[in-house]
Amino acid sequence: MTLPTLHHLLLLLLPPLINTRANIETFQALLSSKQLFTDLDDDDDPFHPWSSVCLCQSDITQLNSSFLALTCFPFVKCESYSLAHSSSSSPSGTVCQLRVSRNANMEKLQNGYLFPEIAMRQIVHMEKYPNAKIISLGIGDTTEPLPLLIASAMSKYSHQLSTKEGYQGYGAEQGNKELRNAIAATIYKDMGIKDTEVFISDGAQCDISRIQTGEYMRHSGKYGGIEYMKCGPENMFFPDFTGVLRTDIIFFCSPNNPTGHAASREQLEQLVEVATKNGSIIVYDSAYSDYISDDSPTSIYEIPGAKEVAIEISSFSKLAGFTGVRLGWTVVPHELSYSNGFPVHKDFDRIICTCFNGASNIAQRGGLACLSNEGREATKNLIGVYKENARVLTDTFASMGLEVYGGTNSPYVWVYFPGRKSWDVFTEILEKTHIITVPGTGFGPGGEGFIRVSSFNSTEYVREACHRLKNFLGRY
Ligand SMILES: Cc1ncc(COP(=O)(O)O)c(C=O)c1O
Repeated sequence: MTLPTLHHLLLLLLPPLINTRANIETFQALLSSKQLFTDLDDDDDPFHPWSSVCLCQSDITQLNSSFLALTCFPFVKCESYSLAHSSSSSPSGTVCQLRVSRNANMEKLQNGYLFPEIAMRQIVHMEKYPNAKIISLGIGDTTEPLPLLIASAMSKYSHQLSTKEGYQGYGAEQGNKELRNAIAATIYKDMGIKDTEVFISDGAQCDISRIQTGEYMRHSGKYGGIEYMKCGPENMFFPDFTGVLRTDIIFFCSPNNPTGHAASREQLEQLVEVATKNGSIIVYDSAYSDYISDDSPTSIYEIPGAKEVAIEISSFSKLAGFTGVRLGWTVVPHELSYSNGFPVHKDFDRIICTCFNGASNIAQRGGLACLSNEGREATKNLIGVYKENARVLTDTFASMGLEVYGGTNSPYVWVYFPGRKSWDVFTEILEKTHIITVPGTGFGPGGEGFIRVSSFNSTEYVREACHRLKNFLGRY
């Protein structure tokens, strides 16, 4: 499973401008939690009329739970929340009828989620063709084993944890100092990012999801309150900002998932210029930056002025095959301030300290090993396997007479089937070749006519897939 539907929607239309009202309200609800928390600290009265939350005596766990219920407990409309110590089991035989309403915001989300839908179609296909050897070039999940030196660093540290001297419990919420330092020094070398600006996460998705919300509009297939900006071959996968409403947040992903396009320096300069002019915050997703092999910037902070307007979210998932290990980071520069001059960094720190107790210390050891000289070399080789797969896939689709994008600075190949519906192409490919792809519309309406093909698989399977595509799909 990768990202929630909305994320994929956003990624496609990238970089879309998120009309900020709903998003920023959610973000600010989280950020303003400081105030709620202060209220709880200051007030011994366990009943808070503004929340209808009932608190038992103040132990920190309860306080945190209440805080979560107030600000981000996602599926309950929190009108009444009790943390009593006493048992609440119902008398035997009584059917419990909950009096808890669903959070209405959950109903605003799109029902289906792309990858479960694909998985369901795969199951149906397997029932129809029980002997078929399915090859998945669908979900963007890594397949190749971790480099030994990285796995060894984690296993050595795990063993240390079994000793009196080596045991460690909670670490800093913001992350291991050494790792923060290594990210600043290695990934952001010469970009002026300080270790204190780097927050370690358990993957990019959780930080991205904090700033995404909206209401799904069935008729348009879009989320309300979001400015969608189509990015396709016709505009070099970069939006035309003229005529687009100003928004507080501009979400931008490069190299892009799903189009595979890595924004050029000129494009990113334009992006920073627009954000500066509009006083907007760019949320820059650079999860695939290590796939860049030309001179496209690997970080938004390569662009002068970006520290005043941009947060960058990234991950070890595709950099080192950590999709299951779980490790990522977010950079919030000290220079980034709200309109009243208050530093965003302080609020981000507050959220991290309250909602997150730090990434796994074992995973962080693995992250450190990735950033050593040998680790960088090993992950480069690992990425090389996927990049070579992407090249072979690109050549295959091109040789079939199709327009192919991405694939050079990204593990994703974005293929255009003129005049066709994405889901129809997905079905045809599955029927004729037993290969799973991803229909472009799964990422948003701008993806109609495209499919995304992932290079995350073994060289052997990708070659077999290309053979089937050429033989059973033919020329277009
Ligand atoms: C563009 C992009 N950002 C972030 C993520 C999530 O990464 P993580 O595994 O760190 O949550 C993905 C995962 O597929 C992605 O494609």
